[in-house]
Amino acid sequence: MRVVAVIAAAGSGTRLGAPGPKALVDLAGEPLIVHAVRAMRDSEVVDAVVVTAPHQQVPDFVSVLRGHGMLGGLAMPVSVVPGGVTRQASVRAGLDAAGSSDFVLIHDAARPLTPASLIRRVVAALQAGHRAVVPALPVTDTIKRVGARAKDGTEPIAGTLDRTALRAMQTPQGFALDAIRHAHHVFAASGQEETTAAPDDAYLAEAAGIDVVVVPGDQRALKITRPFDLLLAEFLANQDAADGAADVFGLGERS
Ligand code: C5P
Repeated sequence: MRVVAVIAAAGSGTRLGAPGPKALVDLAGEPLIVHAVRAMRDSEVVDAVVVTAPHQQVPDFVSVLRGHGMLGGLAMPVSVVPGGVTRQASVRAGLDAAGSSDFVLIHDAARPLTPASLIRRVVAALQAGHRAVVPALPVTDTIKRVGARAKDGTEPIAGTLDRTALRAMQTPQGFALDAIRHAHHVFAASGQEETTAAPDDAYLAEAAGIDVVVVPGDQRALKITRPFDLLLAEFLANQDAADGAADVFGLGERS
């Protein structure tokens, strides 16, 4: 069964304090997008990759990927297309360029250390018959809802959620390609503004009435948003590179 991956990489590096696109920020000597494409290749279950880049920077992404051996000459073809104004719009552009396939993995370039084992876990659940699969982790913090911020800057607690029933979503999220493409087309209008765009692709699948299931996520698939995340990822990447490094942090199996 054919699997394509769409990697959303058209975001800015604003929250990271980066001058250019976040996906071109360096992590352990290579841009985030290079790590993300390599993870797909290393999983050995992905047949082709579509990367969405900021409109003006498509040629930059092509040359960065080519320069790091991730475009051209791979058994897995990689293409770069312009993204959109929101992540949802970018993913839609990627889906439109993905050709025909049984399954699609929709992934964030901002999760560069996603292990191959996690990618394979999502694909295995698709192959087992699920049409929408999300990797997720249990929530360790207590999560409360808050009300409107008061003049003194404090926020009143409005309720406490049952932590045992909560999961934090990661990517890649896997789908039957035709089903998620249809959902993206139906909800395309709301994807044109950040305030109405979907927080993830599973949200659109849910809204389209598709059953979504969770498989175990992996802490190494952390999303790089702020400078602290990049520091942590740098540490983990170096840890991974260390010869014969033991899993001293209990982050899961190495592969
Ligand atoms: O901003 P955030 O980290 O939540 O974005 C998640 C992913 O979506 C990132 O990999 C980013 O590059 C991508 N994105 C995109 N197009 C946008 C905004 C974000 O592809 N317009």
